[in-house]
Amino acid sequence: MLETATLVGRPYAGPADLAAMQALLRVGRRLADSTTNWSPGELEWGIVTDVPATDLSERVTLWSLAGRADDRPIAWTWWTPPDELDWFVEPTIDGPGIRAAILDRLEQPIRTIWTTTAHTAVIDLLAERGYERDGDGYLHFARSLDAADDPPLRLPDGFSVRAVELPRDLEERVRVHRAAFAPSKMTVEKHARVAGMPGYRPDFDLVAVAPDGTFASFCIAWLDDETGIVEFEPVGTDPAFARRGLASAVMNTAMTRAAALGAGVALVTSRGGEKGIRGTSLYRSLGFRQVRETVPFRRPA
Ligand SMILES: CC(C)(COP(=O)(O)OP(=O)(O)OC[C@H]1O[C@@H](n2cnc3c(N)ncnc32)[C@H](O)[C@@H]1OP(=O)(O)O)[C@@H](O)C(=O)NCCC(=O)NCCS
Repeated sequence: MLETATLVGRPYAGPADLAAMQALLRVGRRLADSTTNWSPGELEWGIVTDVPATDLSERVTLWSLAGRADDRPIAWTWWTPPDELDWFVEPTIDGPGIRAAILDRLEQPIRTIWTTTAHTAVIDLLAERGYERDGDGYLHFARSLDAADDPPLRLPDGFSVRAVELPRDLEERVRVHRAAFAPSKMTVEKHARVAGMPGYRPDFDLVAVAPDGTFASFCIAWLDDETGIVEFEPVGTDPAFARRGLASAVMNTAMTRAAALGAGVALVTSRGGEKGIRGTSLYRSLGFRQVRETVPFRRPA
């Protein structure tokens, strides 16, 4: 049995810790574990866009078991103010004991906790502690990259799909993101930080360009060579160009490129419920099927 008494947490301390967090996700991905909702690429996007760089060490904690021959992290937690927790435990050692030990040791206030619906051990633990399901979460989709199944790319006349060229395209790239996700917190500085992440590849930051050079649609695909997974995060279209097949075109282009580089599976996530209808419909239309759902549990005050 796992000796949870030796569980210790330490604050995130830099890029080597991001790599350690991704390594844990790869274990889950290789096992096709139904509780693993994160992918290595989506973690990079989330960390760089959701957590101010100055706050990383306050929000992200890496957990290990002291005294083990190897003291590598076996879990991570990600706290979002004022009281929200996302977390991941290496599936080979996951269980109610280690989850409870983490909750007991966390110093930040916690009232909302995220889990996949497949993670019954966590859901039971949360119920014991007075947490209740609290609304919609996220739907996770997957499809295989058997390019032979895909129809040829169709684009409206004069439109093209290409990779961004930074820094030349930076402002227009940020404009189209902000148009799709309005009201959006994306900024030129933030996209530049995204572009500085280890897993970011400019050839997978794709845009659909209108005849006058305006960016109409975009996606970033995060290709993880080690697992053969490519994850889309984010995908968007300027509403002025909606329903012309442009998000489909940038995603299909990325999937063809990823397959040519050896990727076997594409992943993407949308909001659950009403808010996610457009994304969910797009992904289903491209052959993605829902494989997981993550939901928030909340403890009454
Ligand atoms: C979701 C989004 C990217 C779709 O972009 P788009 O360029 O309009 O998508 P496409 O034209 O390629 O649509 C392909 C298919 O997706 C589905 N779809 C797209 N938008 C839809 C909508 N508003 N309602 C229902 N289905 C929709 C349809 O099946 C559509 O095919 P059809 O037009 O032949 O019926 C765009 O609406 C958007 O940016 N939304 C805000 C940001 C967002 O939610 N991003 C996704 C989550 S990260």
